[in-house]
Amino acid sequence: MEIDSDDKGYSGPDSGSFEMVAKTFRGLEDVLAGEIESIGGQNIRKGTRVVFFSGTTELLYRANFQLRTALRILKPFFEFRAKNEDELYKGASRFNWSSLLLENKTFAIDGVLSSPYFNHSKYIALKVKDAVVDQFRAATGMRPSVDTVDPDIRINLHISEDKCTLLLDSSGESLHKRGYRSEASPAPLNEVLAAGMIMLSGWDRKSPFIDPMCGSGTIPIEAAMMAHNIPPGIYRNQYAFEKWPDFDGELFKKIFNEDYAEPVLSPSITGSDISPRIIAMARKNAKNAFLNKKIDFTISSFEEMFPAGEGGVLLFNPPYGERLKKDNIKAFYTLIGDILKKNYAGYSAWMLTSNLEALKYTGLRTEKRIVLYNGPLECRFVKYTIYKGSRKNEFKKKY
Ligand SMILES: C[S@@+](CC[C@H](N)C(=O)[O-])C[C@H]1O[C@@H](n2cnc3c(N)ncnc32)[C@H](O)[C@@H]1O
Repeated sequence: MEIDSDDKGYSGPDSGSFEMVAKTFRGLEDVLAGEIESIGGQNIRKGTRVVFFSGTTELLYRANFQLRTALRILKPFFEFRAKNEDELYKGASRFNWSSLLLENKTFAIDGVLSSPYFNHSKYIALKVKDAVVDQFRAATGMRPSVDTVDPDIRINLHISEDKCTLLLDSSGESLHKRGYRSEASPAPLNEVLAAGMIMLSGWDRKSPFIDPMCGSGTIPIEAAMMAHNIPPGIYRNQYAFEKWPDFDGELFKKIFNEDYAEPVLSPSITGSDISPRIIAMARKNAKNAFLNKKIDFTISSFEEMFPAGEGGVLLFNPPYGERLKKDNIKAFYTLIGDILKKNYAGYSAWMLTSNLEALKYTGLRTEKRIVLYNGPLECRFVKYTIYKGSRKNEFKKKY
């Protein structure tokens, strides 16, 4: 099969800079761009749920290992235009697949569509798979096989209008799977979302931090990782790039073994929940992350809990409206507002909720309101500043 030598293709180990794409959740693009800048990314541009940047192989490894708000890091390697299946097949056939894959290796292709010309993401992925397999068969009589669970090479096909981009997935399993969460409460928060929320809150990583409804502990664990400069990738067993033919093991080892500065003073980080069973899970997860001594977990209802220090950040996601009985929602959010006013003067309180209606029952003035998505649920991440004397003023208003 003829390979078009002018096409932009993957060409073995990279010494220079190349384009990368970091995927994230909607609403976290700004914090992710900031993180990418802090690890040396160049040419940073934000899209919806993605941040584009450029850098070297070292940056690609670092991005996977150090970015807290990225879900995966992709490396574009080939582009062409197609408006129908035939053009898609022909376009994908122009890439020299033997530069990326061997016939005794396995691969998987995922498709993402935003195009009027194609309908099914599974079908477009199949078309490209056919192009890969047919090219190998024609050249060697053998073909690499498809393995969707643990392939040697993971490929993403992205079609926007008629622009088709093939990207190598350098992460493999989504980066939110840090590796510390063996126990999950009924509604655990995604680790990437939790890290993004903490960053959006502007917590200084020094003052007291409290999650009063901590469930399996995701928020305090992510906060402790940040405060202690622990890279999120430290607990993970594998990244997809480790199976690439040009994987530089020495370079990755160097990044993995770098010293990460400990803070001079450990901030007070508290996770609390009404359920003893759930707190046991949070403790186990923190232990998996070697952070059990850095987080104070307590069994307590929000109503009965008092902060240890004056001022700090309170950050939590209360049970979803769907899980609470409808009649109780008003009472629950009214209680949240009352307790915040009563016990948390000097704190910034941040809450993630999908129950937009219920927010008005807190009786507090919303200072910030950020749209985030918790899975498919559209949520608001809201900030209340609890001033000293809020309660007194509230009291005066009432009586
Ligand atoms: C949506 S979950 C939090 C999930 C958590 N962020 C995680 O990642 O696992 C809400 C938690 O609030 C707790 N909860 C409900 N009512 C409470 C109350 N009055 N006081 C303290 N915790 C409460 C529940 O036990 C539940 O674990």
